[in-house]
Amino acid sequence: MTYAPDALLYGGDYNPEQWPRETWREDIDLMRRAKVNTVTLGVFSWALLEPREGEYDTSWLDEIIALLDEAGIGFFLATPTASPPPWFTQAHPDAMPVRADGVVLSHGSRDTYAVSAPAYRAAARRIARVLGERYGAHPRLRGWHIHNEYGTLDYGPHAARAFRIWLRARYGTLDALNEAWYTAFWSQRYGAWEEVLPPRATQYLHNPALAVDFRRFSSDEMRAAFVEQRDEIRATGSTAPFTTNFMLPTWNHLEQWSWADVQDVVSIDHYLDTTGPDGHTHIAYGSDLTRSWAGGPWVLMEQNGRGIRVGDRTHAKSPARMIQDSLGYIARGAQSSLFFQWRAGSGGSEQWHGALVPHAGGGSKAFRTVVELGEILERLHEVVEPPQDGRLVDARVGIVWHADGWWSLETPHLPNDAVSYSDEVRATHRSFWRAGIATDFVRPGADASRYRLLVVPALYAVDDATQDWLRRYVETGGRLVVLAPSGLVDGRQRVGGGAYPARLRALVGAGAEEIGVLAAGDTAALDDGSRASDWVEPLVLDDATALARYVDGPAAGAVATTIAERGEGVVVYVGARLLQESRDALLAAQAGAAGVSEDIPGARAHGLDAVRRRGAAADFVFVFHHGGGPVAITAEGVELLTGDDASHGLVLGPGGTAVVRVASGARIGISAA
Ligand code: GLA
Repeated sequence: MTYAPDALLYGGDYNPEQWPRETWREDIDLMRRAKVNTVTLGVFSWALLEPREGEYDTSWLDEIIALLDEAGIGFFLATPTASPPPWFTQAHPDAMPVRADGVVLSHGSRDTYAVSAPAYRAAARRIARVLGERYGAHPRLRGWHIHNEYGTLDYGPHAARAFRIWLRARYGTLDALNEAWYTAFWSQRYGAWEEVLPPRATQYLHNPALAVDFRRFSSDEMRAAFVEQRDEIRATGSTAPFTTNFMLPTWNHLEQWSWADVQDVVSIDHYLDTTGPDGHTHIAYGSDLTRSWAGGPWVLMEQNGRGIRVGDRTHAKSPARMIQDSLGYIARGAQSSLFFQWRAGSGGSEQWHGALVPHAGGGSKAFRTVVELGEILERLHEVVEPPQDGRLVDARVGIVWHADGWWSLETPHLPNDAVSYSDEVRATHRSFWRAGIATDFVRPGADASRYRLLVVPALYAVDDATQDWLRRYVETGGRLVVLAPSGLVDGRQRVGGGAYPARLRALVGAGAEEIGVLAAGDTAALDDGSRASDWVEPLVLDDATALARYVDGPAAGAVATTIAERGEGVVVYVGARLLQESRDALLAAQAGAAGVSEDIPGARAHGLDAVRRRGAAADFVFVFHHGGGPVAITAEGVELLTGDDASHGLVLGPGGTAVVRVASGARIGISAA
């Protein structure tokens, strides 16, 4: 999908309903000063827009939109359905979400709705229609922001009813469901559809197949709610693009590929989880995921400009970091730098959350950075125009991603429950980041022929279609690296027969009769110098060749990593969970073997994160200096932040950022200054 606004979008969530009219006027002045061109309105404003059931009041929204319009500021309009008003929950108590433990939630916060409740769905469609009719053709409307961060799971009676409908469509008969769910175990055989329940609190472990199906169902159900709102608005004739903001990176409630299919642009909210340097890789990770889901440009809908929340405290983000982080997302395909939120609240649960206008006001030092960022984004305006083929970053390495992988690895009582899907995928992505090699994420079943190297981290469940797809990729000349734990069960969470990695054993040409597990904190050495933790499969070769063996630990002497030729390609299997540095070494070597080297040679050695974002008529090389000494960047082009000519070498100091415009594909020289 291609989303090309007329400028890099700058601004954020704006909640004028919390402020008096004088503040609105000040807001508009400050927005103009900071060159803000986009705000998101209405995210949680249902109680104001519909103060009583069926009575709508859009007068305040008309008024603020008129002020924004006069100032030339565009807006995303949110449907407010993430926060039903108190009257709604009083009138429809059955539409409240029920937790797995049976507690029915009350209003008083936000996201208190049962997505399958007919009353909720009808009310959501109505308010969407009202907004569509009133604002759908507004020339400043940049897009529809449906709902906010879908992700409230419901285990109540409405969910049970909808889950059964979903299951009938999937399995057809109860016999097929019983077979798929292996209900002969623990007397779980179902004799009627009405007996099937969501995975509510129960005495001991849940059936893993039921648990994963419930996650798939919940994602589909929330997606259906999104599509209903979208279609209500489309029916009013509005042609503005539709999106909903995914919450990254900790939420895993949605299967993002299928959600991308029903949106015009994919957007995310991204909040750092560390104050340390790993935040840089985190930005790259969130950006690469989103660009891949979108298959092109995407929108960063929210970030925190001021703070980084780690555990129970919020740490300040420096002005330099705020600017650098914003450009980090843009380097990897974002068309925006939008924030939560425009003005810091003076009340409510998030009054201490960072904002572009802090409590100290528009005269504060912090606001000067906001103005500076607005100027910078204006200087970078050309990057917004994507190339003809829509490929913003020319990645030659793909990493397989699927929500099923996460959901299935979360089912309880695996050989080692400490292995986490998101940690494994992120560690794998980090390895390529450290090697200076750009990556895309890949949907199982997609055309992967452009990737010289395809990596499968921790895909514990591999269904038949994915099994065939991986084999075809290798046989037609690809180089595949599979990292354990992968391929242990099928799409029904059923363990494949024979040695592990059962579902992929024939492809990798090796198998282990058991899974070795290490105690927390223990590691095992391999004879190629690498180290593993947590998971060590003692492999026996079928027709593969050993690459490395375990030196110690429970699998000592057995094979740990293998390589095999299949058709025109090669498959490498890693039966151990490698520590980060060992993973880095293995993946860099495999990239080398696939003919993939550092995108901008020399960048990493000099402490630079350098990314080439392709544009319509030129490339934009974003360089972030995370290293120690001054570095010279030489290219036939112009540095856009300063306007300097780069042909004789630009010197970039530690902490610095440069964006160099060069001809498509042109070389960049990196050397010590
Ligand atoms: C999310 C929400 C916002 C706000 C921020 C706080 O992304 O969409 O409404 O709660 O988190 O970080």
